[in-house]
Amino acid sequence: MCCIFFYVVCLIVFSIAVECQTVHDIANLYNNLTDSYQKEVIPAWNQSLPLEISFAVAPLVMNSFQETEETISLTAAINLVWNDRRLTWEPKIYGNKEHITITTNDIWVPYVYLENGVDELKPIGDDAPFYAILAYNGNVSWTPGGIFKAKCPSNMLKFPFDSQTCEFVFAMWGVQVTDTMYVPMGDAGIMTYFTQNSNWDITNNRQYIKYKDVITEIIFELSIKRQPVYYIVVIIVPTILFALMNPLVFLLPVDSGERVSLGMTILLSYAIFLTIVASSLPASSNPMCLLLFVMILIMVLSGVIVIGVIMTVYYHHEDNIGSINSYLVRFVSCCCCVSYSNECEGSDEEYPEKKQKLTVKHIVKTLDILFMIISYILLIALLIAYLIYVIVK
Ligand SMILES: *[C@@H]1O[C@H](CO)[C@@H](O)[C@H](O)[C@H]1NC(C)=O
Ligand SMILES: *[C@@H]1O[C@H](CO)[C@@H](O)[C@H](O)[C@H]1NC(C)=O
Ligand SMILES: *[C@@H]1O[C@H](CO)[C@@H](O)[C@H](O)[C@H]1NC(C)=O
Repeated sequence: MCCIFFYVVCLIVFSIAVECQTVHDIANLYNNLTDSYQKEVIPAWNQSLPLEISFAVAPLVMNSFQETEETISLTAAINLVWNDRRLTWEPKIYGNKEHITITTNDIWVPYVYLENGVDELKPIGDDAPFYAILAYNGNVSWTPGGIFKAKCPSNMLKFPFDSQTCEFVFAMWGVQVTDTMYVPMGDAGIMTYFTQNSNWDITNNRQYIKYKDVITEIIFELSIKRQPVYYIVVIIVPTILFALMNPLVFLLPVDSGERVSLGMTILLSYAIFLTIVASSLPASSNPMCLLLFVMILIMVLSGVIVIGVIMTVYYHHEDNIGSINSYLVRFVSCCCCVSYSNECEGSDEEYPEKKQKLTVKHIVKTLDILFMIISYILLIALLIAYLIYVIVK
């Protein structure tokens, strides 16, 4: 019993002793490495060659895409790996330690800026400390991150079926091509840690470098596609319903007295609906959102329908066919032969006789059907053209 107790104590003491030794080792190592270290100097060992920095962008969270402000917000980290020969050691001397994880207070780290950011210009990793992994051969791997808000010129033509491509342009601002060289680690970013956004799908991402005058830029390109379901339910379906309901006012009997008021009600509710919707549609983009354009056209058609309704109501209350515009009567009598062919049978040639048979009621009814068909054709053509454009292209 006593022996076991002694054994356990022995074990604990021994393991603490080993650990202490290791921590001391590392502290020793750290002190030795940073003793005469100048963190202000770019660690290009051969000063006639640029310092090679490998990078990989790791998007973490896609926060938002503000179409009205044309900005995208992304939480991301950038893995930067470079070699600093002043930070090499012999692993054998320090208990075979090949890697150490340290804070970056005492060593050189690159100041990378988001060039097309909309917030203040400050180096990545400035607001929070990030650990770096140091290898015995002098390789430093540092992964600072932050919330990046970048300008993203957007094309809203096909909203809500749009996809956008946004660029995040990183650069060591003020450091010239001759001082540093970036090497992308792979063509695409690291998506392992990415959390999906329910409004946007990531369709593609790319990382590459671009030379611009005297500086080199790290470009991270993100292609995103909007999830349109919400907008389909809230905007497109009601729009189609309004549009399809509207021409039906021509079917209401004139004597019910509801015709004009129904037409007006639909027009007004559509106007209110458009006002509500317009606030969630992207404003002042170039080109303009096609959906908004279609909605305005539907509203104009709705206005035209009200005019048509007023016209038919007006004619309905005419007693005498002679007081109706003669061109209109002639036109309607032409159509009439088609729609009421039995009444016109055998009298195709004799125009005056036909006019005898034609009543105001016929004219109004023909106009109603004509207006309804024309407005349906226009509306459906408009909607189909829109849907085809948006889905096919
Ligand atoms: C590291 O520093 C310790 C003293 O702090 C010294 O004893 C040791 O020799 C140094 N090692 C190397 C490799 O310079
Ligand atoms: C530095 O690089 C140049 C060009 O590659 C080479 O000629 C030179 O020997 C290098 N100097 C050192 C000290 O490695
Ligand atoms: C150190 O970096 C160089 C190039 O940057 C790479 O070839 C090498 O594999 C790295 N070594 C370690 C131990 O990571």
